[in-house]
Amino acid sequence: MSKKPLILGIESSCDETAASLITENEQGIPVVLSNIVSSQVEIHKEFGGVVPELAARSHIEKIDWIVQKAIDDSGKKIEEIDAVASTAGPGLIVCLSVGLSFGKAFASALNIPFIAVNHLEGHALSPKLNSQLNYPYLLLLISGGHSQFLNVQSLGKYKRLGTTIDDALGEAFDKTAKLLGIEFPGGPQIEVLAKKGDPNKYNLPKPIFNKGGCNLSFAGLKTAILKITKNIKTDQEKFDLAASFQKTVEEILYKKTKIAFNDFEKQNNLKEKIFVVAGGVAANKKIRSMLINLCNEKNYKSIFPPIELCGDNAAMIAMVGLEKFKLKQFNNLDHPAKPRWPLDEKATFLKGAGVKF
Ligand code: KG4
Ligand code: ZN
Repeated sequence: MSKKPLILGIESSCDETAASLITENEQGIPVVLSNIVSSQVEIHKEFGGVVPELAARSHIEKIDWIVQKAIDDSGKKIEEIDAVASTAGPGLIVCLSVGLSFGKAFASALNIPFIAVNHLEGHALSPKLNSQLNYPYLLLLISGGHSQFLNVQSLGKYKRLGTTIDDALGEAFDKTAKLLGIEFPGGPQIEVLAKKGDPNKYNLPKPIFNKGGCNLSFAGLKTAILKITKNIKTDQEKFDLAASFQKTVEEILYKKTKIAFNDFEKQNNLKEKIFVVAGGVAANKKIRSMLINLCNEKNYKSIFPPIELCGDNAAMIAMVGLEKFKLKQFNNLDHPAKPRWPLDEKATFLKGAGVKF
């Protein structure tokens, strides 16, 4: 029986300090041995968003014991680890530097390979931690910093089909929550409030709904919600606005995903049609069930990571590390932290004004 790779993953790109050990079984299926995530929500709550300096300090304070706990919980010994995979971007540079430097030092001390991981690739491969998943697949990545449709052709080979031209979807959830007086990060709370509201009460805009292919836009929604919240007086009105916002997002994603399906099918000769949804917003049950129904309608197999692996974690970073380790794709110890690191390096930078469709 050959020794299976044992990979340590480290994540510190934003406000979660995380470490995980993963390996694979005899059938080559990944096995998560430990997955430790320490959230900084309490630190950033009073500021209504992530404060980079405070986030970096907290990563520095926690990283040693988080990694130690990940090793202890895995039941493995430190000298059994075969490689270290750290997030190198995209993210806040002061935060990335903590996990990246720690990973490099760890790999250097143990004299094992170091692997620099793209955080977005971590989200993209996260469903592999619990599902058999073959390339190519269509990925909808919806997180706090990104919203994009990607044609995932193989490890490291991504073709962007569409992206947001302004806010990310998680950002839109968080900003809507803030306008409704919900503490940061309010995205998951919107889902809770929406259950008590009337989704048809407010008619909200759907920016670039009928143009721009499968590109997305959410900034106009936030402006409309700002206007409505000025006249909101009762809790019921808040619930109704949360429900109307969520329903509008569902309608936008339904339409844009259908367009992405067509674009994906044109680019690939498909034996099997697979749709993967990842990133923090993939934890939203209402959005999940709408997308599952759409997949059933269009003969796609839908794959979601388990809820606990939708948000930022190090198991997904170790997952990319495992695949790269098997292909001997290692990095030098001078690999830089990359605050901006698109998965599709060729895709044009759409964010900002002046985008014409
Ligand atoms: O992937 P993630 O943990 O971090 C980034 O890489 O950005 O995503 C975090 C985002 C936040 O904006 C959060 O509000 C949103 O995901 N989110 C949700 C839900 N759970 C997390 N948005 C809507 N519904 C949820 N249940
Ligand atoms: Zn993330």
